[in-house]
Amino acid sequence: MRRQLVAGNWKMNGSLVANAALLAEIKAGMASAVCDVALCVPAPYLAQCQAELAGTAIALGSQDVSAHAAGAYTGEVAVSMLQDFACRYAIVGHSERRAYHGETDEAVAQKALRAVQAGVTPIVCVGETLSEREAGQTDAVVGRQLQAVLDVLDAAQVDKMVVAYEPVWAIGTGKTATPQMAQDVHLALRAKLAGKNSAAAAEVKILYGGSMKPDNAVELLAMADIDGGLIGGAALKAADFLAIAAAA
Ligand code: G3P
Repeated sequence: MRRQLVAGNWKMNGSLVANAALLAEIKAGMASAVCDVALCVPAPYLAQCQAELAGTAIALGSQDVSAHAAGAYTGEVAVSMLQDFACRYAIVGHSERRAYHGETDEAVAQKALRAVQAGVTPIVCVGETLSEREAGQTDAVVGRQLQAVLDVLDAAQVDKMVVAYEPVWAIGTGKTATPQMAQDVHLALRAKLAGKNSAAAAEVKILYGGSMKPDNAVELLAMADIDGGLIGGAALKAADFLAIAAAA
């Protein structure tokens, strides 16, 4: 039985003051949550969030990680640095990084591998654009993106990652994949995982992301292969984030 994970992706939002208020509200409302909960925050706020989340059940995560261990890579953040702040998760391959920073499937795979090797769980994002969906290429696109990661992992490492299906056309748009549309893709992704390690495939959490809100979370999270959510905009409002976690 996979335990559901609701992870907030704050993206490039926040300030010391705003974070303190948001974290206080989330912590106060967390008592009844029965799923795993994580917050993936901007790197400059890792120290603040680590301190605020100490002693809670809320895990900390980053929004990216370098494929390199250390050295002359200006602007990059090493996985060892994330570990200094007790990060359990690192998002890799978010569509915004693929689109605005030119991250290739291979680059994303190397980041995922670096995280897995260090014992940090990568949340590997995959997703198709609207034109790819309309051209009937959804399974091919997400399958290619996931396969690149599977190509660099050993079979024994497959269950060391989380996958997030985030249709690009649903991110921040208010358009959500229907539960069945998402379930179909999640099933295809799990089949792809099973091609590498069938036992592990049953254990890997596959999250849905893309305009998940309190009013659609229950139906999405009820689908057999949807194991949680990666939440953008709604993670910035404590009440919405808590309502989604309660739905999981
Ligand atoms: O990583 C989360 C994400 O891209 C979804 O964002 O704002 O549509 O929930 P949003």
